[in-house]
Amino acid sequence: MTRYLLAFDLDGTLVGDPEALARLNADLSARRESWAIAYVTGRRIDSVQRLMSEANLLVPDAIAANVGANLYTGAYMVPDPRWRVQISQGWHADRVHAVAKLFPGLVPQPDDAQSPFKCSYYYDPADVETVRQLVDALRRQRIRAKVVTSSGRDLDVLPAGAGKGNAVRYLAASWGVPLDRVFTVGDSGNDLEMLTLGCLAAMVGNAQPELATAPACVYRASGAYALGVREALEHYGWL
Ligand code: GLC
Ligand code: MG
Repeated sequence: MTRYLLAFDLDGTLVGDPEALARLNADLSARRESWAIAYVTGRRIDSVQRLMSEANLLVPDAIAANVGANLYTGAYMVPDPRWRVQISQGWHADRVHAVAKLFPGLVPQPDDAQSPFKCSYYYDPADVETVRQLVDALRRQRIRAKVVTSSGRDLDVLPAGAGKGNAVRYLAASWGVPLDRVFTVGDSGNDLEMLTLGCLAAMVGNAQPELATAPACVYRASGAYALGVREALEHYGWL
């Protein structure tokens, strides 16, 4: 049986309204057999697991942590070795940090936000020049990286093959789920890649202004958080 894949961002999307989440969880649980669930988030795996118990999230089939830089699947959430090899090519975290150090407009996020496949900083969204020059400098250094900005504050540098969209596409392909049976939903800049994959996509009513430029095919829910997620699933006739 071909399953459906639901790829959820966590902070600001599934998490934010506990009552609405409880209702959505009940709907998802009733159809759990036919739906694969993936949490696709900027958090690290340990922080995702903590949030799962604090916020009463359902146990997923996969977690794409660190903005889709690390993929974990199965009952024991084992890191996917093939994914790791695939994104490692041409990636050098230490060199990314050395390049970023040249830009006074980039302030490193705390150590617990850094990972071997995600270098994270705070940036000023008004300072577009810094972002442009950083992209240029990474390219000149031949580091295979991409720059993702979120929430008018966070700037992540990831391996070029990583990111939320690539991670969801990889999961769908490895589970044999066609893109028209994939649903993605989010609220901020790092979600844009998975919202524009060519699957059914939505943003919640509380989405950041940076998602305003998303293509018209991305459903704009009026409800916030899990209420908006439910609204979008109803819109697409999945609930
Ligand atoms: C999460 C991560 C942070 C990242 C942000 C945007 O908040 O903890 O490091 O910059 O998501 O992707
Ligand atoms: Mg979010």
